[in-house]
Amino acid sequence: MRLLPMTLLLDIPPGWTGPWAESLRELMPDATILVNGQDEFVSEAVDYLATFRPKPGLIKSLANVKAVFSLGAGVDGIVSDPDYPKTVPLVRFVDHTLAREMAQYVVMHVLIHHRSQRHFDAYQAVNKWRQRPILRRTEDTRVGILGLGEIGTMCAERLRDLDFPVTGWSRTRKSVAGVESFAGAGELAPFLARSDILVCLLPLTGETRAILNAKTFALMPKGGFVINVARGGHLVEDDLVAAIDSGHLAGATLDVFQTEPLPASSPLWNHPKITVTPHVAAITDPRAAASSVAAGIAAHQRGDTLENLVDLKRGY
Ligand SMILES: NC(=O)c1ccc[n+]([C@@H]2O[C@H](COP(=O)([O-])OP(=O)(O)OC[C@H]3O[C@@H](n4cnc5c(N)ncnc54)[C@H](OP(=O)(O)O)[C@@H]3O)[C@@H](O)[C@H]2O)c1
Repeated sequence: MRLLPMTLLLDIPPGWTGPWAESLRELMPDATILVNGQDEFVSEAVDYLATFRPKPGLIKSLANVKAVFSLGAGVDGIVSDPDYPKTVPLVRFVDHTLAREMAQYVVMHVLIHHRSQRHFDAYQAVNKWRQRPILRRTEDTRVGILGLGEIGTMCAERLRDLDFPVTGWSRTRKSVAGVESFAGAGELAPFLARSDILVCLLPLTGETRAILNAKTFALMPKGGFVINVARGGHLVEDDLVAAIDSGHLAGATLDVFQTEPLPASSPLWNHPKITVTPHVAAITDPRAAASSVAAGIAAHQRGDTLENLVDLKRGY
């Protein structure tokens, strides 16, 4: 891709593997690509930043940065920086393959709960042939998706295609074929009341933090399941354990946690009704991210409107 001369700073968390810098250099051969923590750079020379969870203050220190590109779908790790300069546009990562991976994870765990797979796993471990519990009818397992955005919508469509009755809750009303839309705080309670399996796919903002709490669980039908694939900050973990241990909820799948990595001492690891995965529902593909950053920089240099801009006031 031919671009005007510019400098892009790549800021990836330690431990991220994959061809991050290589993919960017391949796509933007005329650009100077620097890696934070590896390359020396003059802050004022940085034109663009690609990052996931920058150290607070990093963006402010880049006095001439023209746009920031998030390497993840969620931008809570960027907008939470109190020094984020509100005049700098923030572009989030929207990718079909990322949404597809998320949808696979969500469909898999909805099916695991719907078909009581964990019970059969437990019987297999003790060599027991048990045909109970009797499987539920698909029509009787109502799935509610908190957040009908890019990822939530794909999950809703895939589950609908498997014949589950699906509803979604969002800030604004949606029109997705075969998916009932609930919108705004006033419609949260009726939405929860018909969510046998509740999937959280909301962005983490001031309004959605701790939304999965004791009050929320009490509004769900008895025997319900919770799947949290959004952010750990959405869930009050102790409330979930209490709701399951009281017998009100039947179980949960958690991919994200208040503290990551999940400490070895966490009771969530060994809870018999909770499935834990280490934030792997979907992983950003470095090549897809590089191509999205390159396209965004090209658009910015042409003076075009940037796609997938984050509303900094709303926080997503
Ligand atoms: N576990 C993983 O590996 C993984 C991977 C990727 C993403 N994620 C998480 O998934 C989240 C969702 O991603 P996305 O791309 O689908 O986001 P998105 O396209 O921005 O969609 C967000 C949805 O949430 C709704 N929403 C936001 N605030 C709300 C509120 N206060 N009340 C009701 N609805 C609200 C939005 O409603 P409107 O449409 O009406 O605005 C929208 O439907 C990300 O933020 C990230 O945290 C996790």
